Amino acid sequence: MLDVDVVVLGAGAAGLFCAGVAGQLGLKVLVIDHSAKVAEKVRISGGGRCNFTNRDLDATAPQRHFLSDNPQFCRSALSRYLPQDFIDLVRRHGIPFHEKHRGQLFGDRSSDDFIGMLLRECAAGGVERWQPCRLAALRTRGDGTGALPARRYELDTDRGSVACSSVVVATGGLSIPKIGASDLGYRLARQFDLSVVEPRPGLVPLTLDGPAWQPFTALAGVALPVTLETGAGKGRMAFSEDLLFTHHGLSGPAGLQISSYWKPGTGLIIDLLPGQDALARLREAKSSSRRLLVNVLAELLPSRLANAWIARDPVWQRAVPDLPDRALEALARSLQHWELTPGGTEGYRKAEVTVGGVDTRQLSSRTMESRQPGLYFIGEVVDVTGWLGGYNFQWAWSSGHACAQALAAELVARKTG
Ligand code: FDA
Repeated sequence: MLDVDVVVLGAGAAGLFCAGVAGQLGLKVLVIDHSAKVAEKVRISGGGRCNFTNRDLDATAPQRHFLSDNPQFCRSALSRYLPQDFIDLVRRHGIPFHEKHRGQLFGDRSSDDFIGMLLRECAAGGVERWQPCRLAALRTRGDGTGALPARRYELDTDRGSVACSSVVVATGGLSIPKIGASDLGYRLARQFDLSVVEPRPGLVPLTLDGPAWQPFTALAGVALPVTLETGAGKGRMAFSEDLLFTHHGLSGPAGLQISSYWKPGTGLIIDLLPGQDALARLREAKSSSRRLLVNVLAELLPSRLANAWIARDPVWQRAVPDLPDRALEALARSLQHWELTPGGTEGYRKAEVTVGGVDTRQLSSRTMESRQPGLYFIGEVVDVTGWLGGYNFQWAWSSGHACAQALAAELVARKTG
């Protein structure tokens, strides 16, 4: 039976990064993935260019850009391996990159540059990789005599069995099952009596239907800057970003961001003219011209949206001066306070991430080790979800790094103790 220090389950962003760091720190590492291809999500990320981190990440206030039932959990790992640390690594590998928008860093060429980098880091650490390889069972191994350390694991796979001291679960979330996502990480957590915060799709297009949505169904492809909010009181969340109309509902950065916070059955409020005073613009138009309302609105909104908006009420077909002030007030309010209730989301098939996951209250925020000694969870399988914009990869790098450091410290302790 092969004997290694660590088995990492999942050859994705977090698993490969952790394996490379751990290998270079002297651990014998085996990575197992059921997929034939390596790091498929890195490959498709950022439209094929990998938005690999975000310069605006504030590790001292992680709740600004991350969701979790335990919002401060990710602080320790994020503050010990910063975006700058990963940027330095990218530079060392000579990968050209640029900042796109709001601190988001993308490769200039292709995501393959980052996969190549992760694989070179693994090679430098002597990491072995079994792909495709299916895990059949994971169990703790005690010999009953006390001769072996208590913390031993055995894994049965279709390539044979492996013994190790530590297992790192880096199997990611449930999104995009067709490229290898599975619930293995949650099943392993439950096997060791660790709870899982109910997973749901995040960064996912929202779906709408019913009569209130009917006039907008033909707007697929229309995009505009909006402020989009959901929730109330302390649970209120708002994003000022571009919104995209799709065949089924709403997407674009604003729609995706809000989806991670949206709860089924609750509504959204959309300001289609953020930072503007719609009523003042309509009053000015009323006092200065005899234009049709639709033409005035088409200066404020994409014309297809202006047409769809106006078509809903015969009063709005008139010239602006023919509209009573009350009608203009109602129109202004509807444009800046458009209430919609999504029916759902496009699900894991289209989601970029999974919100929820292994409950962080059972993990060490310093090491990512769970209450089960020697069993670690890193990356998206954990109940830590970043905003759109490179935050999810940074969590994969930071949690993988924290875990690798802890594995190395544990190895030293084992050898000296
Ligand atoms: P990841 O999903 O990368 O890896 C998990 C690995 O585990 C996979 O290789 C899988 O095959 C393997 N696995 C699963 N089940 C298994 C099983 N039963 N047995 C063995 N192996 C198993 N984030 C970001 O920061 N910037 C971006 O630009 C993007 N863009 C983006 C686009 C799209 C379309 C998606 C779907 C997602 C993104 N993301 C993103 C999110 C980002 O890809 C994601 O958060 C990270 O890849 C998570 O890294 P992990 O290593 O945790 O999981």
